[in-house]
Amino acid sequence: MDKPKVVLGVSGGIAAYKACELLRRLTESGHDVRVVPTASALHFVGEATWSALSGHPAGTEVWESVHEVPHVRIGQEARLVVVAPATADMLAKAAHGLADDLLTNTLLTARCPVVFAPAMHTEMWENPATQENVATLRRRGAIVIEPAVGRLTGVDTGKGRLPDPEEIFEVCRRVLARGTAGPVADLAGRHVVISAGGTREPLDPVRFLGNRSSGKQGYALARTAVARGARVTLVAANSELADPAGADVIPVGTAVQLREAVLKAAEDADAVVMAAAVADFRPSHYAEGKIKKRDGEEPAPVELVRNPDVLAELSASRPRPGQIVVGFAAETDDVLANGRAKLARKGCDLLVVNEVGERKTFGSEANEAVVLAPDGSETPVPYGPKDDLADTVWDLVVRRFS
Ligand code: CTP
Repeated sequence: MDKPKVVLGVSGGIAAYKACELLRRLTESGHDVRVVPTASALHFVGEATWSALSGHPAGTEVWESVHEVPHVRIGQEARLVVVAPATADMLAKAAHGLADDLLTNTLLTARCPVVFAPAMHTEMWENPATQENVATLRRRGAIVIEPAVGRLTGVDTGKGRLPDPEEIFEVCRRVLARGTAGPVADLAGRHVVISAGGTREPLDPVRFLGNRSSGKQGYALARTAVARGARVTLVAANSELADPAGADVIPVGTAVQLREAVLKAAEDADAVVMAAAVADFRPSHYAEGKIKKRDGEEPAPVELVRNPDVLAELSASRPRPGQIVVGFAAETDDVLANGRAKLARKGCDLLVVNEVGERKTFGSEANEAVVLAPDGSETPVPYGPKDDLADTVWDLVVRRFS
């Protein structure tokens, strides 16, 4: 079987060297990658590197191998075009339909999903010209990944960094997995908030009450939402996972901090998905100094108080009219009956119920679940990658938007 064809466009920014890693991940995962750099990109990484890593020529102009009509064919055959890094100049050209080299021609002929991963200085990213170009591209169905915040070229720090190539690859993988059966960017123009991970409730400076949530399901929800064009806020409780490309990550520790961050982000959110394992209780007293054991003394009991129920509060208050609220429930017994009761108690629009098991839920890469809705419907999601469950949740959320 032919390998799926992917075009990796590289425009002229210092982050071009990171595209080598993206190229490697794409080829190693079984894609036939054609690199189309711009002439400026070759100032940063040479043609020899691109062609050696991809196994194809990596010309920049339409005047090479003209008999093969590359300016049309490369775009037509692609299953995905990803431009990383995408400079301000490239975004402007793409938004205006200019076609003065092989990459811009390819962008005009491609009928497949197109992903841009912009990287530039903060001033250039924030410039209204760039922002309008990004909005235009998004409106037309392209996925434009928000740049990361961090160290930029020279001494500057701010928004504009290319996200980790591994995370850009994850977005590409999801876009390719969904194919072109439906609209690729069906969350475009939507703001979604996701909570992930597990809260930790401190007892003293070195101890906490925690849980086994890894954050993988919440991060999968964030990654898949970015790949469907959403603006994503990820409220991450104690997760050690890498930031998903394009998501605005807000780290939190306790349930109270998570509540504050989620409620604030939810003010203008179209959907909120509470995938985090939020502690129901916290120690009533925090010891400023480490709790010591004393010979001959019994340990003092740990007294607990209730934490706020963020999901129930959101469901009741709906900070934005029409907002869709989704909860998760991990159960060990009477999974569906407990799930139904919890859905009614919490008042959310969807409840993803999964059974805690050996290979499922905490820390694993895969999950199996049933999504319950107040109208009595049940959507079973077979055992599979957490990204697949995440996409099913977004499918159901999108249906409720319309
Ligand atoms: N949740 C929340 N705030 C809490 C506890 C839970 O927002 N203080 C959310 C979780 O993020 C999840 C859902 O509620 O989406 C279900 O959590 P769960 O702990 O299973 O529900 P509980 O009501 O605590 O039920 P149980 O008695 O089974 O613990």
